[in-house]
Amino acid sequence: MPEHTEKTLQAIKFDKNAKTLDILDQLLLPYSTHYISIKTIEDAFQAIKLMQVRGAPAIAIVGAFAVVVDTYSYLQSGKKDKTIKDLFKSIDYLITSRPTAVNLSNALNDIKDLISKKHGLEETSVVDEAVFELIYNYSVALFEDDLANNFKIGDNGLNYIKETLKSEGFKGPFSIVTICNTGSLATSGHGTALGIIRSTYNKLKQSESKEDFYLEHVYPCETRPYNQGAKLTTYELNYEQIPFTLICDNMVSSLVNTLSDKKAIKQIAAPVKFIIVGADRVVKNGDTANKIGTFQLSTIANYFNTNKFEGTTNKIKFIVAAPRTTIDLNTKSGDDIVIEERPANELTTLRGPVLSENGVGEKYTVGIATPGISVWNPAFDVTPHQLIDAIVTEETTVYTKNSEGEFVLTK
Ligand code: MRU
Repeated sequence: MPEHTEKTLQAIKFDKNAKTLDILDQLLLPYSTHYISIKTIEDAFQAIKLMQVRGAPAIAIVGAFAVVVDTYSYLQSGKKDKTIKDLFKSIDYLITSRPTAVNLSNALNDIKDLISKKHGLEETSVVDEAVFELIYNYSVALFEDDLANNFKIGDNGLNYIKETLKSEGFKGPFSIVTICNTGSLATSGHGTALGIIRSTYNKLKQSESKEDFYLEHVYPCETRPYNQGAKLTTYELNYEQIPFTLICDNMVSSLVNTLSDKKAIKQIAAPVKFIIVGADRVVKNGDTANKIGTFQLSTIANYFNTNKFEGTTNKIKFIVAAPRTTIDLNTKSGDDIVIEERPANELTTLRGPVLSENGVGEKYTVGIATPGISVWNPAFDVTPHQLIDAIVTEETTVYTKNSEGEFVLTK
């Protein structure tokens, strides 16, 4: 195991001068913080597939920067044998590392379009400095825009939360449930769904809230089978000192019910008012692919809204937070989204370091299911737009439904 290093939330480090790319190995979090170097497109393919970096915006940024560093080292080598066609072939290969998140294919196809259309290059032309410059400028902008846009998503989400609670006449503490990891580790920084939670906590914590309500507590779901919630979201919430309690994915209905009845769980009794999730692909009608388990969260909100809270102003809002780079207007509905299926051993084993009084030991794999059994392991599911209240992007408009119940998503 690598040695412990200082805790950090910086998932991606790109050195503009040296043109080097390092990523925080998310398989080792929260126990050790260790960066690995990405030198080639093949390195990026492996790191994305193995989920050493994950999260829709982060894999797109790493994919784009990998093309930068790969192309830079080719040019440094002095060789003159790589054609645009060769480059496009390796970019297409990189796109296949994870199929559901549209950000990766959007970014890499943008790079291809920029190269082929804007500069009218023939596919047989060799890769040169001008091509490098296009890739470099695009990738740096992708990283920087993502960071700026996440702060805007945070503000827009906060405003939506405030407006919702004001219109309900809600007063007092409230809670938020979230799933997977959608924070700094999944993006260039701040995050999307977790970005909204951060922005909301910073403006609406009890000591600082200028409103009649405040965010008291966050409930991150464990997020089986890969446990991004348990490992990564708790790491981020802990790092930022946002009060939270970890729950398993199958506890959400019970949690909402218990908190709405004001029975204290360890003295915490703020009702769940929002379930906020990220997205890997939002399609034209608003259907949203996100981490497996997201769909069931939306059905839970719907159940409580249409049963227990029917006839009251007290509702749970189901919010999707995503930058425009996650929106895919070329796909009509969720039925057309390709859902990535992951290996069986992610369900049948648990992997991690041995924890002892002496610290973190060697990596270990523990079996937790009958060996050799049939396993279904889709990484994502699709939440139908009917169950989504708002899609929060970086643009000032928060996409909500029109009178026909459809999301209006236009370029
Ligand atoms: O399999 P992962 O960890 O890449 O899945 C990540 C998610 O589902 C996130 O919610 C999504 O990518 C948005 S991250 C800002």
